[in-house]
Amino acid sequence: MTQANIGVVGLAVMGSNLARNLASREGNTVAIFNRSYEKTQTLLDEHPEAGFLPAADYAEFAATLSKPRTAIIMVQAGRGTDAVIDELVKVFEPGDIIVDGGNALFTDTIRREKAVRETGINFVGAGISGGEEGALNGPSIMPGGSDESWVTLGPILKSIAAVAEGEPCVTHVGHDGAGHFVKMIHNGIEYADMQLIAEAYDLIRRGTGKSPAEIADIFAEWNRGELESYLIEITAEVLRQVDAETGAPLVDVILDQAGAKGTGAWTVQSALDLGIPVSGIAEAVFARSLSSKPAQRAAAAELPGPSDAWTVADPDAFVEDVRRALYASKIVAYSQGFDEIVAGAEQYGWDIKKGEIAKIWRGGCIIRAQFLNRITDAYDADPGLVALLTAPYFRDALVDSQEAWRRVVVAATQAGIPSPAFSSSLSYYDGLRAERLPAALVQGQRDFFGAHTYKRIDKDGTFHTLWSGDRTEVQAVDSH
Ligand code: 6PG
Repeated sequence: MTQANIGVVGLAVMGSNLARNLASREGNTVAIFNRSYEKTQTLLDEHPEAGFLPAADYAEFAATLSKPRTAIIMVQAGRGTDAVIDELVKVFEPGDIIVDGGNALFTDTIRREKAVRETGINFVGAGISGGEEGALNGPSIMPGGSDESWVTLGPILKSIAAVAEGEPCVTHVGHDGAGHFVKMIHNGIEYADMQLIAEAYDLIRRGTGKSPAEIADIFAEWNRGELESYLIEITAEVLRQVDAETGAPLVDVILDQAGAKGTGAWTVQSALDLGIPVSGIAEAVFARSLSSKPAQRAAAAELPGPSDAWTVADPDAFVEDVRRALYASKIVAYSQGFDEIVAGAEQYGWDIKKGEIAKIWRGGCIIRAQFLNRITDAYDADPGLVALLTAPYFRDALVDSQEAWRRVVVAATQAGIPSPAFSSSLSYYDGLRAERLPAALVQGQRDFFGAHTYKRIDKDGTFHTLWSGDRTEVQAVDSH
């Protein structure tokens, strides 16, 4: 009997496309299974060239796979994933490999990996980015799981991944949930990047009066420079699109309430737990939430804004300022995302190579961008780099942009145009570079009302002040 070296469970669009991608690569024979056979049949009918081996149930699916059996689950993240894992565990054997290719929460992946490992079967959480098109033609893949599973899985994933500068966009990120953790950060950065681009568009449109089509040209032009990226490229296309029904720019017809499936919120929740300030990403998540509050927005529409109408004096200069502000803020978003990767790796004991992550994001994924090479260079030059923004290339870019960045944030504030991601990124930058922060006052307040103690700049130890009376009485206390 012909056997398959890889199987796919779940044949919705992402699963079907991934199965077709696998089948199109030399050396792969792909087994397919879906809960309802109808989808399996459709895929077989539509793609006879793929040579799929269909299975009607889990037992047949397992029998169709050569050992070690390797199956990629492509179902909606959540309970469906657990149900499929339970079924696969029943028919798989020790040494086999179950891969979850959905957008699972990394703590679920850690839990599942632990439970599945007890059966001797390998469980791999793999982040897969690139949407439907990427799944079909080459995604960026972020697998976690054991070293043993990577031996079998590595060549298969390399065969289907996007290729950037001759290298496949996949690496073994780290053990158990590391892959899904890094995919989560990818999505957090994606949220920030999208919000920053949206703010840039809004400022240019409202400041210069240019049409969406004219702004599309600006983005297309930016895509030829240091901002070159998939998101800038598709932004030009979205802005150029005309609504077939009304003839208006499509962007003006789309309801301005942004949806979210939750991965951006996870990035922020995890950052809060880890104590990492991912303020640009958080503002991007909150901007979507704010947009999706129609009742509050309608009620607040009455509130006053600036009295003077706003137009910029020199549109070309303003557009260039916005470009620089976008670049600087984008550097902050990536820097914050990588800080979270470093903190997560430390917390969960993963050996994540930051430069490798930047490399596998150069192709296939939604945040693919030219400047990821610069991030790899920065971490290669200094693996212990404490803040990406301080690497020479990014430092120079910030030196070049920071004045434009300030002008843009000032203009937005004065004009009453929301720019949460631009503004918070600039505040983050100023916060990090500040010689002294008002955190000293916060420490004083904490000590005042709760005897929470503080440290001093002039000597070691932990101190508490007896706050009553004119004179400060300071006590050294045991640290706690
Ligand atoms: C990707 C995308 C993908 C998906 C997001 C969108 O890397 O291919 O990130 O995972 O498009 O889940 O998320 P929202 O619906 O939350 O914007």
